[in-house]
Amino acid sequence: MYASFKSIGAYIPEKVLTNEELEKMVDTSDEWIIKRTGIKERHIADDSELTSDMGVKAGELAIKRAGLQKSDIDAVICATISPDHFCMPSTANLISHKLGLNPVTSFDISAACTGFIYALNIAKSFVESGSFKNVLIVGAEKLSSIVDYTDRTTCILFGDGAGAAVIGATDKKEDAVIDVHTGADGSYSDYLITPGGGSAEPCSLETIENRRHYMKMQGNATFKVAVKTLTKDVIDILGKNEIDPKDIKHFIPHQANYRIIKAVGDALKLDSEQVVLTVHKYGNTSSASIPMAMNDLYESGKLKNGELMLLDAFGGGLTWGSALIPFAGK
Ligand code: COA
Repeated sequence: MYASFKSIGAYIPEKVLTNEELEKMVDTSDEWIIKRTGIKERHIADDSELTSDMGVKAGELAIKRAGLQKSDIDAVICATISPDHFCMPSTANLISHKLGLNPVTSFDISAACTGFIYALNIAKSFVESGSFKNVLIVGAEKLSSIVDYTDRTTCILFGDGAGAAVIGATDKKEDAVIDVHTGADGSYSDYLITPGGGSAEPCSLETIENRRHYMKMQGNATFKVAVKTLTKDVIDILGKNEIDPKDIKHFIPHQANYRIIKAVGDALKLDSEQVVLTVHKYGNTSSASIPMAMNDLYESGKLKNGELMLLDAFGGGLTWGSALIPFAGK
């Protein structure tokens, strides 16, 4: 049995936070943000909208577009760093319940911006081993709940949203996910970190006063490792599978920074039509960024059955991953 990428769905919250609005909140400028990141605006969930609610909306679309009933889904994996609740219950449990899927296996994974590719790798293994037939994978983030809107080095980068896909069993080799690579290096763990709230720094008045529950990033150092690692990762996966970059129909990278995407695209000598870009309108939505970008492509009518996609992500941990997938949806 093979695992195929059957469908894609996403949910983008309505509210938009523009660079001009951020100029009124911190010492920054529209010009600086666009020049250094390519981001013009990002979407922000409203107060009552939880990570699981966005995951449910993306998941419903993905199930429908896969031509399945909710009862066909037998596992849910949610990749998130902004869960509804820290520790428990998992956001996947809540998504599963809100979708009316109970009782199915459901759990969260923590691999930051690489989360969707990690979830894909796990789902692929579940399907190939025969454990499950249809796995719903979700990347959902309410990053606005862990972003410090007094810190100009991070608050300009992130947005909210969700994306989802169904990874299902098939006997057609041409529909099969070709390969998924994932990796991590904990020696860079302080490059991107939410220091407070865990066992290292349990919640206290001091952690709150020192804003330790917000995301902290060593931006420039992360940037350098990101370009190097992402470039090596895509070259490796293409080489291993003997695929020429020109045969990639859609390169769908994690949308963190336009300059990182451009550097990797240039290293592969990709044309601009091959590179999917949404960073300008959604910012960095961590685990949701790749499926949101893929959904944009799908809804614009540009993603067709059988077309070869190359995914590539990098994030806190540090983690990274890439995937080669023919789109098996309709
Ligand atoms: N507005 C204006 N100036 C800002 C700013 C902002 N929002 N944020 C930082 N600056 C300033 C810095 O204070 C610094 O000033 P200084 O030279 O006086 O010290 C200057 O701009 C340059 O900062 P630097 O951090 O070196 O900029 P950069 O070119 O590296 O861009 C990032 C910053 C965050 C956009 C970039 O490093 C980045 O995208 N990093 C990687 C993000 C990523 O991939 N994360 C992993 C996946 S989530």
